[in-house]
Amino acid sequence: MTRKILLASAAALALGSGAAMAQDRVIGFSQIGSESGWRAAETTLTRMQAEERGYDLRFSDAQQRQENQIAAIRSFVAQGVDAILLAPVVATGWDSVLQEAHEAEIPVVLLDRMVDSDPSLYLTAVGSDLVHEGEVAGQWLVDEVAGEECRVVELQGTTGSSPAIDRKTGFEQAIAGHDNIQIVRSQTGDFTRALGKEVMESFIQAENGGRDICALYAHNDDMAVGAIQAIKEAGLTPGEDILIVSIDAVPDIFAAMAAGEANATVELTPNMAGPAFDALEAFWADGTEPEKFIQTESRLYTQADDPAGEYEARKDLGY
Ligand code: AHR
Repeated sequence: MTRKILLASAAALALGSGAAMAQDRVIGFSQIGSESGWRAAETTLTRMQAEERGYDLRFSDAQQRQENQIAAIRSFVAQGVDAILLAPVVATGWDSVLQEAHEAEIPVVLLDRMVDSDPSLYLTAVGSDLVHEGEVAGQWLVDEVAGEECRVVELQGTTGSSPAIDRKTGFEQAIAGHDNIQIVRSQTGDFTRALGKEVMESFIQAENGGRDICALYAHNDDMAVGAIQAIKEAGLTPGEDILIVSIDAVPDIFAAMAAGEANATVELTPNMAGPAFDALEAFWADGTEPEKFIQTESRLYTQADDPAGEYEARKDLGY
């Protein structure tokens, strides 16, 4: 996938597509932070896309704090940027600042996470169907255990974030009606590797040294990678004693899958900026209003899908 993005970007540059028109555009980007490998990749790809299109990208790292994002947006409005990209850490609390950007006639594009504000306050949102991601993960587990009893522990993403809410909902929908599968413990790991490990240690301790856990569902791969470490330290074999399904498809989970230590992941593309910039360029050109939601594709990868090859294909972006 990474190679495809690089090749497509190179081709676009060679053709000069959009780049000349986009010269001198100033874009403010309020990023959540760097909690996960996926987040780092999204930042890298956004910078690459902006550079290729000749934009001046003003980057603000909110370090997981909504108040920092609100301050960054206000600063972008004061600077009179041409557009704002916002990856919102949580779903609520954006109405006032989005209204300010709207009144300043600065288009806002949401990246990867959603807000519960009136959609008229932003131009469009680029992201995947987060409920569907959870459903795909849950359906994989339903098929994998094939009617056997399965006690599941769940590592949730950041509390109040749209992926944490929707991925939980989707997974629960997939296992509903399958009484052999139960979520017995569920806690946030804040999308980080460190907290994923720490919370998994507490799950293991509470569940008979981990022997009563059949599967882990982690809302992202980084938490799964942290949990794999905890499982190994408890003397169990991840991927066998405890099945592991997570979301993102970052290189490290493919390395774990290649080693037999993780079982499945649902891909979330980190290239949200490409579709966002395409929509902005059409809007700037002649006022074309994009769809309110531009959906990116997601698909399931298992150990049968050449995880070593997927690792090689993705590792160069360092995520
Ligand atoms: O919003 C997307 C989620 O945020 C990714 O799944 C996770 O890795 C990141 O922190």
